[in-house]
Amino acid sequence: MYFGVMAAAPTTKNASRSACRCDSAGFPVAGSHIAKRRTHLRGQVRRYHRHASRAGASHALRRRRGTTPWAKGAVRPAVFSFTFGIPDADTVDAMKRAGIFTIGTATTVEEARRLQSCGIDAVCAQGAEAGGHRGTFIGEPENALVGTLSLTPQVVDAVGIPVVAAGGISDGRAVAAVLALGAVAAQCGTAFLRAHEAGTAPAYRRALENASEDETMLTRAFSGRLARGIRNRFAVEVNDPRKHAPYPYQNALTRDLRQHASRLGNADMLSLWAGQSFPLAREASAADIVHSLMREAATAATEAATALSRVTLPGLDSA
Ligand SMILES: Cc1cc2nc3c(=O)[nH]c(=O)nc-3n(C[C@H](O)[C@H](O)[C@H](O)COP(=O)(O)O)c2cc1C
Repeated sequence: MYFGVMAAAPTTKNASRSACRCDSAGFPVAGSHIAKRRTHLRGQVRRYHRHASRAGASHALRRRRGTTPWAKGAVRPAVFSFTFGIPDADTVDAMKRAGIFTIGTATTVEEARRLQSCGIDAVCAQGAEAGGHRGTFIGEPENALVGTLSLTPQVVDAVGIPVVAAGGISDGRAVAAVLALGAVAAQCGTAFLRAHEAGTAPAYRRALENASEDETMLTRAFSGRLARGIRNRFAVEVNDPRKHAPYPYQNALTRDLRQHASRLGNADMLSLWAGQSFPLAREASAADIVHSLMREAATAATEAATALSRVTLPGLDSA
């Protein structure tokens, strides 16, 4: 089962416009382009900050009481899944009054406990294998890189609310595994990157087909926030944190560059978000992928039960 995540952050069309000039191959002029234009970038970031303040919020989840779409009754999704922190108490209350089931993302046991104490209905345990941004909101994300196999059962043991496991789940064997660990559902992102319906750019699709499992890396180069994707030239050459604006400004500053790269079909500058299990992702319709995941999970669970039934432990077998 996949839960879409609303990554709420301010955006601007112009913040990156003049910051990203490219050579004829579409790569930023010199690898350290952003560092050399730092003063300019700082100006852009300040302007962007003013724009965000004028808009009245630095984060959509921190809107004033009563202005949230669900409070007005305009939008009423069955589930609201969020990341990068916890909405304020008024927002959580508004969602509860609207009957919306809330799921918060945790990358550690402490974060899962915090979500539970704020009245969130379920927790998504995001393991280190996961593609895209780390949801860490307590401490540094580099210190919160616990694998799904280790994180899921610890979160299950620590909280009394349902746990959804995420990270590295791209086939049915992994779905069966996280259900065995106590999760109520599996959240898959990378598994759908090659789906017919996915808006994955052709160059991105080619990278997913051709790279191998040891070619993902964690980087802040594209957005200013730690995220896992397939290693490419931009992620490697702009990997010095001193050259990054904080999230979401770096994200805005690199947007033109990424769009330009996408138009050129140049995977060197695209954010190729992918989890460590991306070689298992298959090209098919989203519906077929879901059916395959469920079929494979049932088979894997049966095979595991059969394998266990064959285990004989000296002294423990009934006579
Ligand atoms: C292309 C891509 C985009 C993602 N975008 C977001 C996002 O905007 N917000 C978010 O919280 N998580 C995002 N994620 C992470 C997923 O919510 C989830 O944690 C992750 O996909 C699970 O691991 P997996 O990729 O190994 O399946 C994204 C993941 C991918 C692969």
